[in-house]
Amino acid sequence: AARDPKDLRSPICCILGHVDTGKTKILDNIRRTNVQDGEAGGITQQIGATYIPASAVESRTEELRKGRQFDLKLPGLLVIDTPGHESFSNLRSRGSGLCDIAILVVDLMHGLEQQTIESINLLKMRKTPFIIAMNKVDRLYKWNSVANSPIQDAMARQEEYVRKEFEDRLNQVMLQLNEQGLNVALYWKNRDPRSFINIVPTSAITGEGIPDLLQLVVKLTQSLMVDRLMFVNSLESTVLEVKQIEGLGTTIDVVLVNGMLREGDTIVVCGLGGPIVTTIRALLTPQPLREIRVKGQYVHHKELRAAMGVKIAAHNLESAVAGTQLYVAGPDDDVEDLKDAVMEDMQDIFSSVDKTGEGVCVQASTLGSLEALLEFLRSDDVKIPVSSINIGPINKKDIMRANAMIERGHKKFGVILAFDVPVTREAGALAEQMGVRIFTADIIYHLFDQFTAYLKQVKE
Ligand code: GTP
Ligand code: MG
Ligand code: NA
Repeated sequence: AARDPKDLRSPICCILGHVDTGKTKILDNIRRTNVQDGEAGGITQQIGATYIPASAVESRTEELRKGRQFDLKLPGLLVIDTPGHESFSNLRSRGSGLCDIAILVVDLMHGLEQQTIESINLLKMRKTPFIIAMNKVDRLYKWNSVANSPIQDAMARQEEYVRKEFEDRLNQVMLQLNEQGLNVALYWKNRDPRSFINIVPTSAITGEGIPDLLQLVVKLTQSLMVDRLMFVNSLESTVLEVKQIEGLGTTIDVVLVNGMLREGDTIVVCGLGGPIVTTIRALLTPQPLREIRVKGQYVHHKELRAAMGVKIAAHNLESAVAGTQLYVAGPDDDVEDLKDAVMEDMQDIFSSVDKTGEGVCVQASTLGSLEALLEFLRSDDVKIPVSSINIGPINKKDIMRANAMIERGHKKFGVILAFDVPVTREAGALAEQMGVRIFTADIIYHLFDQFTAYLKQVKE
């Protein structure tokens, strides 16, 4: 059948890599934003999404094309940012599960690190094509910065010994990649992109190589993945976050992976107290080149096509659970089936906790961060037992559950470890009255430090 290029959907490109290799900074460079500076501890702790329209790719690659036309067939790119911190392997897995192509970011100065290898294994397992961004070239001694320029132009402007250091470091990392069973090549020397993985040297700070990276993602997806990117109208979409927005009430941020969403659609979403069936009142997106994680101005739509980061306003979303699937109930769908389907993920994680045992109560903002926190607490060098879990703000009921530990004679577990959730005023007052300790943190591993310090204090 003849292919209408209009029917290609935007590919989803996931950014993966070890902590602090520069994933968010690369996106900041593309967006001309400063999201990374606003992150607690400078680390990413949730999945982000940014839409890059084709026009932005076009203008950013102009110098690289040197007057040549760019035959752009894609409407744009949806880029998914992921955390590199070891606790968030669940979010890396989820992010890489959503994507068509990935950018694996490696710090040229550090080479392969633990989560680089974890990411490589995820990509191999899913057979996801990827590009390696060899980031932080500007850290090479005496690097002569040529802001935002194509990487080969920048390289040509360096002193001989700078290029030599680059090559030495690159060769080392290439060997490490070979040891992982990967054939790799600098992208401009790569004659066989189906067999060799492309490497693009970049700087997220000064922007060298960023045009090359963008062009390569677009070229590879629109030339090698056409079948996969043909628009299909079957909905696939995941809730990233539940957020209060002034003037809109409770909203959910979702990644629309496939299919369409329309204003007025009946949607089915996982809720803490059971499935939620509601109607899309407003269908919004952030401005192009803006991170959905960051509050901003929104654009209203009547309908939206994948792939896109979307904000949905609807009634009854207060108890929606982030990190779960969203379904649209079409005329032929059995709503009861969809209700069962949306509750599945949450039931799995809730049934993984032994509620009869002794241990702390754990509460987090999303299913994803709850999973991450549980994984962290269960890990060998932490091993903090957990007796109950919940998602969302801490209410009186949560305090009562922690108090039950005290009543059962386990005072040291009369504790709530709360990640990225608020404590309601009544709950705070009740906790004080009952002697329940609440530890809150916006960085996951700080909870461990606080709880360990507390255990020591209790023992003394
Ligand atoms: P996580 O999301 O926490 O895994 O980190 P990340 O991979 O998103 O890295 P991030 O963007 O937070 O950058 C980490 C640090 O490296 C920050 O201090 C950045 O300013 C710095 N950095 C990132 N890219 C570059 C680069 O190309 N050159 C230099 N010199 N510094 C960089
Ligand atoms: Mg980051
Ligand atoms: Na970071």
